[in-house]
Formats: sequence, C-alpha cells, structure tokens
Amino acid sequence: MSSIQASRGTRDILAPEIYDWQHLEALARRILAQAAYTEIRTPSFEATELFARGIGETTDIVGKEMYTFVDKGDRSLTLRPEGTAGAVRAFIEHKLFAQGGVQRLWYTGAMFRYERPQAGRQRQFHQLGVEVLGSKDPRADAEVIAIASDFLTELGLTDLVVDLNSVGNAEDRLAYRGALVDYFTPYEAELDADSRDRLTRNPLRILDSKDKRTQEIVQAAPSILDYLGAESQKHFERVRSLLQDLGIAFRLNPRLVRGLDYYTHTAFEIQSTLLGAQSAVCGGGRYDRLVAELGGADTPAVGWAIGLERLVLLLQKLSQRTAPTADFYLVSRGELAEAKALFVAQSLRRAGFITELDLSGAKFDKQLKRASSAGAKAALILGESEVASGQLQLKWLATGEQQAIALTDITANPETFRQTFSQRFSS
Ligand code: HAM
Repeated sequence: MSSIQASRGTRDILAPEIYDWQHLEALARRILAQAAYTEIRTPSFEATELFARGIGETTDIVGKEMYTFVDKGDRSLTLRPEGTAGAVRAFIEHKLFAQGGVQRLWYTGAMFRYERPQAGRQRQFHQLGVEVLGSKDPRADAEVIAIASDFLTELGLTDLVVDLNSVGNAEDRLAYRGALVDYFTPYEAELDADSRDRLTRNPLRILDSKDKRTQEIVQAAPSILDYLGAESQKHFERVRSLLQDLGIAFRLNPRLVRGLDYYTHTAFEIQSTLLGAQSAVCGGGRYDRLVAELGGADTPAVGWAIGLERLVLLLQKLSQRTAPTADFYLVSRGELAEAKALFVAQSLRRAGFITELDLSGAKFDKQLKRASSAGAKAALILGESEVASGQLQLKWLATGEQQAIALTDITANPETFRQTFSQRFSS
C-alpha cells in the first residue's frame, strides 16, 4: 500500500529547522512584549463573508486562493488566508474599542492560500502579524515599521529594503483609478489576460502584473503620488520624516500596490535580495476603513504580517541553529536501577537541567556511546551496585573524569545540587 504524504504546498517542520522557528518566535515575543503589544489568538476558519468583504471580492486571494467549504450546518466557511480580518472581527466582537485608547495586538499562526507552491510560497504558511487599532497618528505607521525593522535586524538580516508608498484615501484612489483606466485602455489588447480583466474590476492591481509586456506599459503609467490630496500628502510626508528620524532607510515605490484591497494611505513591503521571486518578507500598511466596513465604529488602523517560512529560509542562509544539548544523560541497567534513573531524571529536570534518559536497556558501554553522540555534558551511571550503595557515578564526557555522587544529593537536595553544578554547565 502506498504511504500518505503531506498535502501539496504543506510541509512538516522538523529538527534542526525547528530551532530556527523557536528562536524567531522567542525573539518576536520579547520584542512585542517590550513594545506593549498583546497577543491575540483567533480561529483558523471564519465565515467566508468576513474575507470576501474585508480583503475585497476582486483580489486574487478572494477570487482564486481561498480554501472555502460548506460545513454540515450549511455555513460557508474559509480557512483564514491572512490574520487582519480575523483580528478586526475579534476587535469588534469583543468591543476592544470600549477599553479606550489604542489597541496594540499581535498574532502568529498558520494561514492558507491556494497558490502554486514554490520556494517561499506554500498553501499552508505561517505569519507573525501586528495590528494597531484606534490611531490615525503617523507615528503608529512609523512605530509598526520600526518594530518590524528591529525584529529583522536583531535576527541578523542585513539585506533588507523597505519599499514605501501611499495609496491615499478613497477619494484619491477614485481619481487615480480613473487616470489608470484612461492610460491603460488604449493598450488593452496588449495587456495580459488578467490585467485586461482588472482594467474594469481593479485597475490598480495591473501595476503588480508580472507579465513582461504589461510591465513595460506600466513603466509610464500615472503615479499615485500625483493624485494624493492634501490630507494624504501630509500624512505620508510625516511618516517619511519619522522613518528618517528613526534611521530606517526606505525606497519610495509609487508602483507598490498590495494584494489586499483594505489599504489606505501608507502601504509598505520589506523585501530581501536573497530570496529570489518570493522576495517579500513583510507586507502591511494602514487600513482606516476596514473596521467600519466590517460593522464596527470608524477606527483607523495600521499593521503588517511577516511570512515566517521566508524568514526561516533567510536564517538558514546565515547559519542554522542547533538543538540545545543535554546537561545529563542517564545510563542505567537492571529493573531497580532503571526505576531510580527515571526518578533521578525527574529531579534533575525539576532543578532546571536538560536531562535525557536512556530507555534502551542496552549494555552500559552502548548507552555511554549514545550519551556522547547526543552531545550530553555528563553521564550519570546507575547499576545494581550503585543502587545498593546509594551512590551513582557522574562521568564528564569531554574529559572522562568520573566522581561518585550520593543519590540523595540529587533527589533530596536538588537546589544544592543545582548550585554545585550549574557553574560547570553554564561554561
Ligand atoms: P500579505 O502581503 O498578503 O499581507 O502577506 C504578508 C506576508 O506573508 C508576505 O509578505 C509573505 O512574506 C507571507 N506570505 C504570503 N503568502 C504566502 C505564501 N503563500 N507562502 C508563504 N508566505 C506567504 C497580509 O497578509 C496582511 N494581512 C498584512 C497586514 C496586516 N496588513 C495590515 N495588517
């Protein structure tokens, strides 16, 4: 019988890669706690309507990429393709606005898009995201970009570029949309099929076409920056000057349009030059209309999401993290000794040592070999005679040096034991 494989576009994350994931998750937690962001966990599936209304009917995500199904109660549900819509739904549902002030939220989890899998693009992937709800201050835009930048820099990534644009407010975009339709219509026959379709439905998305001829035509298309009203210009100028003050380099990119329709004013992406075609590590921007569109009170907001698979690919280009190695490896033989070894292992774990228990029942020398190949610092050896004498043997694996330790020193006084040995383990 043929074995079952992970579904196309999904993958298992195993050691040693998992240590990169744990490293970046721990760093994210620390940086976001320092910035006073609160974690939020929302469901993996939501009513389809939430995404259709939130992300936009004419986007590729809603039109082509959603995992939508009808459940046994006849509801149309969708595996979340991104985290913003769910966070906003929770913000409205739990009346988080009633707490007053600004809500700073973050989340991480699996997202689902039916895309053609390739390096850095999967059907189940993971995002780390932040959403700041309740402020129209340009400092909120600059803050979220600065947090992403600090996080990526602390991870050791240096090849990154921030692409920055403003997509203005609804009025600006309406004027710009008209200008784009006027510009592209004479070229209609030369545009790729998707772009022709977008000409009436969502002309801004034509700017994002990967087709060579369409890209040539896009070169001379009108720039959104010429259609920003006074309010949008002021907001954008302030964001740029705040980023300059923070020392965050950015590239002005008036062709940057995001794949989701909810953006207003600031839109940005952080690109890596090391990633090939799927180069966007982080994408985000301001979305001042979304909360109201999803039924909440008028609430300006801004946020981003980082694709964690892409981040891990970048970390692997730097160097791979390795497993934390055990402090102690317990070697035992004989029923009594084996039971005691489990007891000792638990005492050591409680005292804060990384402890691995050999379960093989193999000969002592075989177990000791395993202790060395596992990279443990010391083996603790327990046989019938050690149980009888109440002493076990501690063997330092790097030097072979050996000493006897009273069993009760570990099991009855783990704190003293910890103090005696912790220095040796921290080196
Ligand atoms: P997005 O640009 O669609 O934005 O996704 C953010 C990031 O998720 C991308 O830059 C990329 O790193 C990663 N990503 C997207 N699709 C895939 C995929 N199929 N495989 C692997 N990684 C992927 C959003 O999702 C918005 N919700 C961001 C946001 C939050 N805007 C405001 N707040």
